[in-house]
Amino acid sequence: MQQTKALIQRVRRIDARYQHIDLGIEEQLGDIKPGQSLLVRQGDNWQPYLREHWWPVRITSHTLVVERPGHIHYEPGSFVNVLGPVGQFFRFRRSLRHVLLIAYDTPATPLMSMIPMLIANQTGVTLALMGEARGYPTSNLPPQVEIIQGEADLEWENRVMTIGLADQVFAVVRPDDEIRRFREVWQIFTDQRADIRKNYLFGVFQSIQPCGAGACQACMVRLNSGTALLCTDGPTLDLTQVKLT
Ligand code: FES
Repeated sequence: MQQTKALIQRVRRIDARYQHIDLGIEEQLGDIKPGQSLLVRQGDNWQPYLREHWWPVRITSHTLVVERPGHIHYEPGSFVNVLGPVGQFFRFRRSLRHVLLIAYDTPATPLMSMIPMLIANQTGVTLALMGEARGYPTSNLPPQVEIIQGEADLEWENRVMTIGLADQVFAVVRPDDEIRRFREVWQIFTDQRADIRKNYLFGVFQSIQPCGAGACQACMVRLNSGTALLCTDGPTLDLTQVKLT
């Protein structure tokens, strides 16, 4: 992980609640991959004290597109201080035909960076927006992505078929109580499948990461055997390994 500066090249409004920022990146960040993120500080006044967690939604060789709340003002031409890449990249199965993405009561932002790569590899993608995630903007997504608008209780039409089609599933939930919400996601899969195999159902954790470098232990998650640090082992964890009780 490196500390560097990134140039805000362009700001595009997606809708009233979201904007996309093109960040010009230096060589140190050039190898960032889908699933990894940035810890960012604007200006030099240490307000807020903790760095903000910025999630790329698209990655090209010299530009990262990150998604940010629409109410914050960003000035094209200014620099931000960046720590990154933080965490591990998404790991996919070798033979992958269809991926199911679930956003439950939270924006789907942390899942978005994998979509261009999956589409380029002709992998089918379904994005299920549950509960408060239903308002997440999808007009800028490739037309190949199937969008499902679900209910607050993780119900959606043809759920059995959607789950049956998926070779891998990645879920993101509102970070106020991630373990409980991931347990709810886990439940709908165990209701349908007798056995959840490894490398199938993943949670992408959004918990606060104060240092991003494995030093403060604030991002520790309990596993069935031992612990994991989200900033070094995550943010994506196999839910078969996470202690969900
Ligand atoms: S954020 Fe400090 S150890 Fe993970």
